[in-house]
Amino acid sequence: MNEIKLFCPASVANVSCGFDVLGFCLEPIGDEMVIRKTSKKGIHIIKIEGQKLPLETQKNVAGVAALALLEDHPCNYGFEIEIYKGIKAGSGIGSSAASSAGAVFGINELMGKPLSRNELIKYAMKGEKLASGSAHADNVSPVLLGGFTLVRCSKTPDIIALPFPSELYATVIHPKIELRTSDARAVLKKKIYLDKAIEQWGNLAALVSGLYTNNFDSIKNSLVDVIIEPHRSALIPGFQELKKVAIESGALGCGISGSGPSVFALSKGHKTALEVQNGMNNTYKKFNIEYELHLSRINPKGIQIISSK
Ligand code: HSE
Repeated sequence: MNEIKLFCPASVANVSCGFDVLGFCLEPIGDEMVIRKTSKKGIHIIKIEGQKLPLETQKNVAGVAALALLEDHPCNYGFEIEIYKGIKAGSGIGSSAASSAGAVFGINELMGKPLSRNELIKYAMKGEKLASGSAHADNVSPVLLGGFTLVRCSKTPDIIALPFPSELYATVIHPKIELRTSDARAVLKKKIYLDKAIEQWGNLAALVSGLYTNNFDSIKNSLVDVIIEPHRSALIPGFQELKKVAIESGALGCGISGSGPSVFALSKGHKTALEVQNGMNNTYKKFNIEYELHLSRINPKGIQIISSK
């Protein structure tokens, strides 16, 4: 195989109570990437469409992730990368994760698959580090593994794929303002109170339990964020209104997608998710901000190969 074309999906990180540790993969939104072998060694980003991003390998998230992979697994040829962005940078639905994960996934395929999808996560995290200053794995993991994932430890890294009920649907609204992850991380407190930590890890454990047992009451009760949301929600115009209408429309829960400004809601069943989408639409029309709405199943597959030759 000399060339591969990929679909690299968007993702929702944190999922309310799981800051930096929980994430899930979305279905309809994503980037496409073409990666091909070249006789010239190294990584060469030759085209980016849909977004103004640096072509220099060292300044591009896909470039640094790919370089990290090649450093551990050198080969006597190089790679050209074309990126067709469908996900806006700074949207909160894993734009840098899609590019970073896509680069290492595609190169691994062209090298004859020496590594598993799970083993690629630590290289994709290098792209996240470049984008936000923090090597979090909660977006790249669901992009590479599909479904819901839990980061037990980001240093190793140790990533666990979680089961999830098939009736779970996500509604995501993307207000078209850019919120950089580094800025959204800068507003966070470095120390937290013990009572808040207890509440948060109780909810996280209950959410994971609910995903395993298809217990929608448990999922509903635990989609709460008492640590991060109070600080970040002020950065998202209309967040409280969106959350109110999502819950009133029947969502199990609603929170900030990753570092924002996108906002996600999870619902049981397509019908409810559609009602949530309509509610969010009617509410956000009144704000003077352009936005996009997406309704998605939880994508069980993650990155997909569109074609190869
Ligand atoms: N967990 C990260 C954060 C995700 O919330 O900062 C960034 O997309």
